[in-house]
Amino acid sequence: MQKPIESSFPLTDLIRERWSPLAFSEKRISPEILGSLFEAARWAPSSFNEQPWVFLVATQDQPEEFRRMASCLVEANRVWAQRAYCLAISCTRLEFARNGKPNRHAYHDVGLATQNLILQAESQGIACHPMAGFDPLAARELFQIPTTHDAVAAIAIGYMAENLLGLDEALKQRELGPRVRKPLTDTVFTGTWGRFAGPFG
Ligand SMILES: Cc1cc2nc3c(=O)[nH]c(=O)nc-3n(C[C@H](O)[C@H](O)[C@H](O)COP(=O)(O)O)c2cc1C
Repeated sequence: MQKPIESSFPLTDLIRERWSPLAFSEKRISPEILGSLFEAARWAPSSFNEQPWVFLVATQDQPEEFRRMASCLVEANRVWAQRAYCLAISCTRLEFARNGKPNRHAYHDVGLATQNLILQAESQGIACHPMAGFDPLAARELFQIPTTHDAVAAIAIGYMAENLLGLDEALKQRELGPRVRKPLTDTVFTGTWGRFAGPFG
């Protein structure tokens, strides 16, 4: 399944074709490919090259670990996300290791690393669905996340299912819905706030 989009300008395939699906298959992802995803995250840029991210990971080949991670998800996410072969929780370090000062870009940089992971996955035929809907306190407790770090987002990682049979009617409708975005006029300004910068003089 693909979700066509209407883009105002041409895009590279990875960005045009990526989306956050609900219908995952439990098909195994090889350790080599999983390794590539986290290697891609590793090479993200970060403020002062601090690399504040940490990913907690569990696959369906570790049933107990996987169950513990799935238990952190809100029910509305767990129903579909627990079919993915792999779950992850991204975390970020809130202070610079180099001087103990607050890292204002800690959340920004774990987001960059996550998008690297997502696009690498897309290039290897694997889909990802990031989720705010999880319990960060439960994750802290279960995985002993130190107070130096925040749990930021859960991520379902897996091959897409070949059909929508595992989804209820409401989820099917969501899955089939279009990908929508604000227009560029709302988000790219020049000179003064609110004046559209496109294209681009
Ligand atoms: C930080 C973050 C949190 C999200 N949380 C959830 C979530 O809890 N449940 C969910 O179904 N989707 C969640 N999403 C997915 C977004 O709804 C989705 O990315 C957005 O609607 C755009 O759709 P697309 O990724 O298919 O282009 C989240 C995405 C991000 C980046």
